[in-house]
Amino acid sequence: MRHLLSAADLDAETAILVLDTAAELAAVTDRSVKKLPTLRGRTVVNLFFEDSTRTRISFEMAAKRLSADVINFAAKGSSVSKGESLKDTALTLEAMGADAVVIRHHASGAPHRLATAGWIAGAVVNAGDGTHEHPTQALLDAFTLRRHLRGGTGGLEGLRVTIVGDVLHSRVARSNVLLLATLGADVTLVAPPTLLPTGVHEWPCRVSYDIDAALPASDAVMMLRVQAERMHDAYFPSAREYSRAYGLDRDRLGALPDHAIVMHPGPMNRGMEISAEVADSDRAVMVEQVTNGVSVRMAVLYLLLGGSTGES
Ligand code: ASP
Ligand code: CP
Repeated sequence: MRHLLSAADLDAETAILVLDTAAELAAVTDRSVKKLPTLRGRTVVNLFFEDSTRTRISFEMAAKRLSADVINFAAKGSSVSKGESLKDTALTLEAMGADAVVIRHHASGAPHRLATAGWIAGAVVNAGDGTHEHPTQALLDAFTLRRHLRGGTGGLEGLRVTIVGDVLHSRVARSNVLLLATLGADVTLVAPPTLLPTGVHEWPCRVSYDIDAALPASDAVMMLRVQAERMHDAYFPSAREYSRAYGLDRDRLGALPDHAIVMHPGPMNRGMEISAEVADSDRAVMVEQVTNGVSVRMAVLYLLLGGSTGES
């Protein structure tokens, strides 16, 4: 693996290697001294053109736990606001010797461009590009599913995962469908017809408009944020109507099998796609998803950067 641009880059064997490595690294995170010398002398640049809380901080934490140097670049406050292009920004980072660039960008395909244009020599990790992909989110979700529902080992064969909400604007949904299908899970997307992308029927999953039909047959339900910042049209009549038709509330939680877990990539719109009561319930694993994100990102950096310590 040279870059991580899409969940489609991961075959089952590589995905399991990442998850197994993350499990080993999670053990380090449980110790009182959380650092490994593995990436000493390497530099990881977090290149964020779009806002982030979890992804940016967890990549930073992951790199630091592996003893890499971390540079955080936010487009806001940088020379991007003076009109500097992605190319010139990348060349600048390359000139300073970045070994890996973790990029979040509003344009779908920006990480791919960065990896293939020859502007930088290091590894590129997609931390979310437009409405396209967010592969490390899918990996941390798979890690969480595997821990909770598969005893922490193997693939996810036959696991029934229902993903509900704004699929149209969600890079999390696409990456999850691709990765979960690779790992053998049985994925159902549930959304109003207006919030499904064209071509979704070719994705390796089922598609439904009926959340109440899907919940009783789910081992996990993943709620997606309604991404208002990407909506330039009216996709549903009102927030209240959306919530009534597609929100996860206490009654719908009761329709899930007892063992089923509730996931959300965050940030949540409490009261919209998920009620506060469900978000705070003991079936919800959002906090663990965030914790697992650090281990999974450590694994990705470790595998991409070869895990070698150089001469020091
Ligand atoms: N944080 C995730 C993303 O950046 C999901 C979301 O924003 O709703 O794609
Ligand atoms: N899940 C996720 O990507 O969160 P952030 O947008 O806060 O990074």
